[in-house]
Amino acid sequence: MAVDLLLTHAVVATIDGEGVGPLVGPRQGEVGLITAGALAISDGRIAAVGPHEEVLRYAEQHGGAEQSVDLGGRLVTPGLVDPHTHLVWAGSRAEEFERRVAGASYLEIAAAGGGIMSSVRATREASIGTLVDDLVARLNVEMSHGVTTVEVKSGYGLDLETELRQLDAIDEADRRHPVRLVPTFLGAHAIPPEFAERRSEFVELVVEEMIPRVAARRPQPFCDVFCDAGAFTQSEAEHILRAAVSAGMPIKAHVDEFARLGLTPIAAKLGATSCDHLMQAEDADRAAMATSGTVAVLLPGTTVGLGATHFADGAALVAAGTAVALATDWNPGSSPCDSLPLIMALASRYCGLTPAETLVAVTRNAACAIGAGDVAGRLAVGCPADLTVMRTDDLRDLAYRFGSSPAERVMIAGTWVV
Ligand code: NIG
Ligand code: FE
Repeated sequence: MAVDLLLTHAVVATIDGEGVGPLVGPRQGEVGLITAGALAISDGRIAAVGPHEEVLRYAEQHGGAEQSVDLGGRLVTPGLVDPHTHLVWAGSRAEEFERRVAGASYLEIAAAGGGIMSSVRATREASIGTLVDDLVARLNVEMSHGVTTVEVKSGYGLDLETELRQLDAIDEADRRHPVRLVPTFLGAHAIPPEFAERRSEFVELVVEEMIPRVAARRPQPFCDVFCDAGAFTQSEAEHILRAAVSAGMPIKAHVDEFARLGLTPIAAKLGATSCDHLMQAEDADRAAMATSGTVAVLLPGTTVGLGATHFADGAALVAAGTAVALATDWNPGSSPCDSLPLIMALASRYCGLTPAETLVAVTRNAACAIGAGDVAGRLAVGCPADLTVMRTDDLRDLAYRFGSSPAERVMIAGTWVV
């Protein structure tokens, strides 16, 4: 096939290697670096990637390249993947933030009807048009940081109609915006006040009405649940995840953020694609995830967002043989953070990950955390040409520096989008 575009003189972090699964243990830091590399792109996909001379020869053998861009020795990575966000919300929580700064805790504010419920009230009032416009604007920010695939959760509706409107907004933004979106249904994000005295009825509503409706959607969303102090109990969360599995949905879970309620080993046994947060996780949780192949998604922006100091232990997860991914958890409450590279910087300082491990955690392992390991997170022949050209030749800079975007140019499916 003819080569549409040749990218020459690059340092390429392919994050490629055997198979399409996550990189675990000692392989968590295997970035597949080619120091004098190049890429050939045909029809939106990677046609060749490797040492400079080899790729140039490939292009010649295929009749030369239509266009060639000299990257001047810059680092090229797979387009970054943000595998945990709550990007469909309306309203602001700045006032609540101010109260937290003055001493109120996240859980106190939530118990008094603020927190997630404050965003639910605003989101229920918002039109689909507004939700899509705001989501698209947020995706532009993600993309400016080098991100090309984003998981987006519902969960600020907590009634069937608004949850579906959020999922519709995600699908519509996916059509309108080049960033690839992976939808997740998070109807079990909080118990809405109208069910405060009859929480089991809300759990049944999720199980009997919401899950059957969302399981039938295409693209099919993941089913997520928030299992924690102030949210769903272990047995409620297990009941919801079992219903999702029976309905044929892939599952993931918010676990061990404030309190370790014991869902992690259960979710792992049920085949969860990922378990996320894990600040309070213990050895048994890490071992269970290693056994099931469940990816651990760490969200250090949330620790910072909550003004807390206890971070998830990434080094212990790597040592346990659990695949580690990183995400922004971008949401209006606990993590109003739009920068995945900033998360790399935090994780290398506070979660015990090396710079190379953080890069794998926002590419290949992040893609695996959302079931997209075959299409995203690697620079390999046949993969969509989603890539980021960084303003550096040294991958350590991605975690070393913080505060500005390292992304100079971003490509999705062979088209420059930044
Ligand atoms: O991932 N933990 C639950 N949900 C979000 C917080 C959402 C919010 O505060 O609005 C999180 O941290
Ligand atoms: Fe979250």
